[in-house]
This record gives sequence, structure tokens and C-alpha cells, in this order.
Amino acid sequence: MKLKIVKDNNPIMRKKSLPVSLPLSVEDKNTLDEMLNYLKLSQDEEYSKKHNLRPGVGIAAIQIGLLKRMFVVYYETDNGIVQYQLVNPKIIEYSVRKCALKDGEGCLSVDGDHPGYSHRYYKIRMEAYDALSGRDVILTARGFDAIVLQHEYDHLDGLFFYDRIDKNKPNQILMNEELL
Ligand code: NI
Repeated sequence: MKLKIVKDNNPIMRKKSLPVSLPLSVEDKNTLDEMLNYLKLSQDEEYSKKHNLRPGVGIAAIQIGLLKRMFVVYYETDNGIVQYQLVNPKIIEYSVRKCALKDGEGCLSVDGDHPGYSHRYYKIRMEAYDALSGRDVILTARGFDAIVLQHEYDHLDGLFFYDRIDKNKPNQILMNEELL
């Protein structure tokens, strides 16, 4: 596998990624395709075992060392496959309602253990260019889908899921918060 994942001890991960110029260059599209392929392979049991990959549902460009505001998500749900190659995403709406994964979040760039709840908005609307469909999109996401988008979006601003955990009260549930 060509892609090398940058870990959270590398200071570049704390940088704010820069807007990507559109129309998308062939090079950027190729990068997004490689990222999507990486996620697919990481979820293939045989391949991931052989190459010692951890399964991931999302990856941001900064995680392969590129300071570009773009990320890819790929995972299967009961309703089908969720897959996007989002470029210059913006969160345009947040719900008052919050949520968190009861088992905590994981990240391809984070090897350490960070127990606690990463507080997220239950519902968001995100605007972006989706290079997979070749269209501008406005996504409305709830629950797990919304968490994945917020997690990846945070990488573009140099944030990790553990920054959203309250250090003093890691297991405290907020008002209006649901555990998923
Ligand atoms: Ni991550």
C-alpha cells in the first residue's frame, strides 16, 4: 500500500488545511481515489490482516500529509453504502441535540487510548463539492453519519476526537445528548 498514515504526534496534524482549488485537478482527484481505495482495503478482512491495516471509515488529506481541505468517507450501513469524496466542506447547520459514540471514537492517526465521550452534534448539514459524483452537494446527516462527517471535518482544522472529550469528566453525558 502506497499511502502512509501520519500519526497524531506529527505537528502537521495540528495545522489548518487550505482550501482546494476548483475545478479539481487530476492530481487531487487521483489522491481522493487513493484515499477511497485505502478505506475499502482497510475494511477487507484478509487484506487488512495481511498488511496490518486498521479498518477506517474516513480519512482526511492531512492524514496522508496533504494540507488540503478534503476528505473521504466509506462505510456500509443497513441502508446501503455511504461514500463521498468531499472537497472544501462547510458545516452550514448544527442541531441543538448532541450525540456521542458510547464506545468512543477511533482514528487511523491515533494509536493511543483516549476513553470518554467525544461530544458531537446529532444532526448537521454540510455543503461541499463531491468529487465522487462530480457535483456540489448539501448533505443532511444524523447520528453516526453526522459523527463521521464531523470527525473528518475536524482534521481539516487540526483537531482530534479526543479534543472533544472533557478531560475532567470524560464520561459525563451532556444535556440533549444521546449515546449511540
Ligand atoms: Ni480521524
